[in-house]
Amino acid sequence: MSADGIQLLETKNLTKRFGGLVAVENLSLSIRRGEIRGIIGPNGSGKTTLMNLISGLYRATAGAIYLEAQRIDGLTPNVRTARGIIRTFQVPKVFRNMTVLENMLVPALSDSQGDRYKRHPEIVREAQALLQFVQLAHMENRLAQTLSGGQNQLLQIARGFMVQPLKLYLMDEPFAGVNPQIKSVIMESIKAMNREKGITFVIVSHEMPSVRRLCDRVSVIHEGRCIAEGTLEEVAHIPAVIEAYIGG
Ligand SMILES: Nc1ncnc2c1ncn2[C@@H]1O[C@H](COP(=O)(O)OP(=O)(O)OP(=O)(O)O)[C@@H](O)[C@H]1O
Ligand SMILES: [Mg+2]
Repeated sequence: MSADGIQLLETKNLTKRFGGLVAVENLSLSIRRGEIRGIIGPNGSGKTTLMNLISGLYRATAGAIYLEAQRIDGLTPNVRTARGIIRTFQVPKVFRNMTVLENMLVPALSDSQGDRYKRHPEIVREAQALLQFVQLAHMENRLAQTLSGGQNQLLQIARGFMVQPLKLYLMDEPFAGVNPQIKSVIMESIKAMNREKGITFVIVSHEMPSVRRLCDRVSVIHEGRCIAEGTLEEVAHIPAVIEAYIGG
């Protein structure tokens, strides 16, 4: 296996077809351990489909996905989570009839392989500390359905941090429809978790200022293919990238 472990995630010629439509086509990506990678591209270019393929919600039509040099594209979403892959959804998925704190406990309590459920008080403290960290502590006993869209996004993100081990965090539009204050909390959480815990992030976003501040490199997706890679500054000057955005 990869002794140096430099590449955490690799996709090789990844393809997803929906009937006649090719949503992702021959997409090969290499994401370094500890990287914060941005995924950008026009609407409908295949970014969410890519997240769904990596997290296991969709099966690839062709190609392969490797985590730490081990093939994972045949595994169910749950097994991928157990290997350290977590994701958020473009529209936050929270349990609306549960409290904020209860939502936070779901990953630990459904961890059938570990013994974390036996350490309940400790897990609760961990959840409360994370809620403090994302400035939702004052809402821990509120039902999730009473939260704003931005607060739900924050809760969804914080809940992901409860998964252990957490190696790769996939985020689909974490900043969409989120106010500037919550946006900066999300940014700071990503940076801190990356710096302190070495978590690798793949972040799909249309918010270029946030992408610029967070991401070492971006991959530009257009019609299911990766048409450019580099810093945001670099790719912004590539004619094919400009055309993809203007043409769309
Ligand atoms: N489950 C599905 N069934 C059929 N077609 C789908 C499905 N999911 C996505 N598609 C199609 O695949 C293409 C890529 O969609 P996708 O949602 O991945 O784009 P996106 O880059 O995330 O767009 P946006 O920026 O608007 O979120 C689109 O043409 C979309 O209609
Ligand atoms: Mg999308």
